[in-house]
Amino acid sequence: MGEALLCKKEKIMMVAPSILSADFGHLARDVEAVCNGGCDLIHVDVMDGHFVPNLTIGPAVVESVAKAASKPLDIHLMVENNSFFVDLFAPLKPSFISFHIEEEKHPHRLIQKIRALGIRPAITLNPHTPPEAIEFLLEDLDMVLLMSVNPGFGGQKFIPSVIERARRLKTLIQKRNPKCLIEVDGGVNDQNVKLLADVGVDIVVAGSFVYKHPQGVKEAISSLK
Ligand code: DX5
Ligand code: ZN
Repeated sequence: MGEALLCKKEKIMMVAPSILSADFGHLARDVEAVCNGGCDLIHVDVMDGHFVPNLTIGPAVVESVAKAASKPLDIHLMVENNSFFVDLFAPLKPSFISFHIEEEKHPHRLIQKIRALGIRPAITLNPHTPPEAIEFLLEDLDMVLLMSVNPGFGGQKFIPSVIERARRLKTLIQKRNPKCLIEVDGGVNDQNVKLLADVGVDIVVAGSFVYKHPQGVKEAISSLK
């Protein structure tokens, strides 16, 4: 019991910097900086201009990111036609691919497809989507990504109701698949990260907090951990 408590106390938050806030003119340099700065994953935001009102990068650029990265990729799809994009990014061997439940008619089938490609499947929930919506998918998932902003842009304000959603998700995960990780994305900083840790969040995505930190990316990552 004492040991279990100790482990819980010593659990360190994993950090996935979002390269959306990097300098795209120096992308390899900025990816290397966060890898050397102690991050756990590289979060890649893929937007198609349809599911979200913004457009980002495709496989050619993500291939360069993968080459520069010494940490695994965490690809966050914000697109229509998820299956097409899974095929596009699978050859880059990301650790995770997450897709939005709001944009998928056959999530169970897509989860199986992602896993069959040797990639860890994850589902993303927009700020309005309750965790109960995916209760019966949890046993097949390796991670759930809770949005704490509306997807589409970096630098937005954290939506506090994600705390209650994370708490409810944690309860469902403990019942259905305790190995499934919880990741939170959007507006995360050194002020709200403790609230997320307290409700059982395993990984935080941070874009502007990491890349715009006055003391640099390494300091930003350590402050989140
Ligand atoms: C938003 C993206 C986020 C974003 C996070 O659609 O999914 O990953 O880059 O950026 P910050 O941390 O600045 O909110
Ligand atoms: Zn993201």
